[in-house]
Amino acid sequence: MTKRLIRPTWAEVDLNAISYNITQIKEALLPTCKIVAVVKANAYGHGSVEVAKRALQAGASYLAVSLLEEALQLREAKITAPILVLGWVPPKDTVLASEANITLTFSQTEWLSAIKDIHLPKPLKVHMKWDTGMGRTGIRTKDELIKVIEALNADQRIYLTGVYTHFATADASDKTYYLKQKDRLEQLTNVFKKVWNKPVDIHMNNSAAAMLYPKEQQPYIRLGISMYGLYPSDEVKRNTSIKLKQAFSLHSQLVYVKKVPKGEFIGYGSTYETQEDEWIGTISIGYGDGWIRKLRDAYVLLNGKRMPIVGTICMDQTMIRLDGPYAIGTKVTLIGKQGNARIEMDEVAQKLETINYEIPCMINERIPRRYLY
Ligand SMILES: Cc1ncc(COP(=O)(O)O)c(C=O)c1O
Repeated sequence: MTKRLIRPTWAEVDLNAISYNITQIKEALLPTCKIVAVVKANAYGHGSVEVAKRALQAGASYLAVSLLEEALQLREAKITAPILVLGWVPPKDTVLASEANITLTFSQTEWLSAIKDIHLPKPLKVHMKWDTGMGRTGIRTKDELIKVIEALNADQRIYLTGVYTHFATADASDKTYYLKQKDRLEQLTNVFKKVWNKPVDIHMNNSAAAMLYPKEQQPYIRLGISMYGLYPSDEVKRNTSIKLKQAFSLHSQLVYVKKVPKGEFIGYGSTYETQEDEWIGTISIGYGDGWIRKLRDAYVLLNGKRMPIVGTICMDQTMIRLDGPYAIGTKVTLIGKQGNARIEMDEVAQKLETINYEIPCMINERIPRRYLY
């Protein structure tokens, strides 16, 4: 949702980039393969309602979130497309899911037993999760699978519409573990096909697998990070011809500008000393917004040029060294581009020794998202 913007600091989400990325990926896939747009965690920090609507317009068939509350938020926004909840949902809340026609993920017989006596207003659609090596949740063995199928057969209100697994290393250059997971998937599929004869979609590929193996026969791909225009890893970036556009950028404005004499200190702990008379600008963003202190030596863009952050990042403010005087209100870009200069999400992720997935997620709700339609 677009929030009121008083402080001049905002994230911009280019919804046209979302459509572009979906179109690029869709063109590379087999025509029968559908897209599940993964919009969990507020669409990786981009804004789940806006991204979900745009993804559906751009050709996604399904949405996936992690929490039932995330799915209900999409329903409240009048989104009627099928939604799959990837995470565990407490058995008592199956009522909410059935009412709102939301598909849940399950893998435990205990979960099925716990809902046996609950009144479900409508039939409940479920996908079964198999753990082929991610080690999070899911059925691992043939015996578990057979028991779960028996329990499913005993409850006529529950409809199994899908089965899926998730890869732990599809984005890595070493394919050994990825292939091991595929092999386990095949073994479980063979058992499953002997004990289940109704039509069910079996899906597995995330962004990395979809981009590296787009021609694999799949009912769906579950597309997260690449929809946002970010590559799952350098390995995938090097080995795909699919070009993506980053949808998220982060901006602020100068709110204070001053000339500081040589030998003065900037910020908490006096960690930065001016080396000469320097122009110092202040922007209104800090660790209280998710722009964390570890970014203290990062760069921002101003007037199409890189300028360094100096001193410790405060809770609400950050100081930068300017190459001269600039007017209050001058735009500062922390992630994104200005003219030919760019600060990619990957650069910020590298600085923080993490993956690009984490960066838009950590820019918190204090920063309003503005949408380019
Ligand atoms: C079960 C599941 N499927 C698909 C995805 C999407 O993965 P990616 O963002 O790498 O495309 C995720 C994301 O973590 C996931 O947990």
